[in-house]
Amino acid sequence: MTETINIEIHPIEKSRIDAVDFDNLVFGRSFADHMLVVDYKDGAWQTPQIVPYGNLSYSPAMMSLHYGQAIFEGMKAYKSESGDILVFRPLENWARLNKSAVRMCIPEIPEEIFMGGLSELLRLDANWIPDKPGCSMYIRPFIFSTDEYVGVSPSKTYKFIIFNCPVGAYYSKPLKVRVETQYIRAAHGGVGFSKNAGNYGGSLYPTKLANDAGYDQIIWTDAAEHKYVEEAGTMNLMFVINGALVTAPTGDTILDGITRKSVLQVAHDWGMKVEERKLSIEELVNGIKDGSVQEAFGAGTAAVIAPISTIGFEGNDYVLPERPEDAFSRRVYEEINNIKIGKKEDTHGWVYKV
Ligand code: COI
Repeated sequence: MTETINIEIHPIEKSRIDAVDFDNLVFGRSFADHMLVVDYKDGAWQTPQIVPYGNLSYSPAMMSLHYGQAIFEGMKAYKSESGDILVFRPLENWARLNKSAVRMCIPEIPEEIFMGGLSELLRLDANWIPDKPGCSMYIRPFIFSTDEYVGVSPSKTYKFIIFNCPVGAYYSKPLKVRVETQYIRAAHGGVGFSKNAGNYGGSLYPTKLANDAGYDQIIWTDAAEHKYVEEAGTMNLMFVINGALVTAPTGDTILDGITRKSVLQVAHDWGMKVEERKLSIEELVNGIKDGSVQEAFGAGTAAVIAPISTIGFEGNDYVLPERPEDAFSRRVYEEINNIKIGKKEDTHGWVYKV
């Protein structure tokens, strides 16, 4: 494996783990003891360091604060019954981080820094990885520009950091989502395919409006016509329609989700019909009315599989049927989860053992 790199390790003096209530983990509020920090300067990524998780100090003129040269990833690690540390498809995240990097004029991260740094960090904070059902270690790799400069140009210095959060569920109940027909998430030629910090910042206001109207999240539609389904909040969006799994094709406006592609692969393995195609809001609404739309759910790293109970469109709420015990979204969640925690054979080579 690609883990042979030199890492400077500065361990914490006293762990903060006793202050964390592992029985009531909230998403993204607890942070493991250490973080990986790698500087980019003089045209090269420098020696990775592992240091205590803590604040950073920067100039108010730091470029990423002004011009948004900032990208991130989200991935998860699990503990198997025998205590192994298992990470789900991390090389996919590494590759996607670098795709985002290219689009944002950020230098790409070498695989050995990403994987070697991640592995060492997880080994060091192994006791922070929850082993309770539904819990995991959410891993947040990110890169941002650090030049102190107010001109608009690519920065010459960057920081790559990975920190880890022990987490429980992202959503606690089925979601009520509203079709967004005024604001957009992404347009052709833009940065919608990347995990760019600004994509998420831009989603906050329309999401707040939807929240104020009683919805949990938004269904994003295409920028040109607001006619076709794209994503839901921070997730890819999937439907079971007449027994087939239907999702929007990835492209430059849709994130190439790793949970998305895992769900498609499992459906394919199970012999289910899979349709990566445009789905209009009209077809969706009519399908809910006539019963052909059997399930709707979001798929993402943080949320995993998030069932949707209601879709709001133009002032009307369309309610999806109750999910039966054998609903596809339940079975695929179980299947992927069992692969992640090492309970089910990993026939696709998705699980990386640290
Ligand atoms: C993820 O699923 O990892 C995401 O990107 C969602 C995150 C913004 C909380």
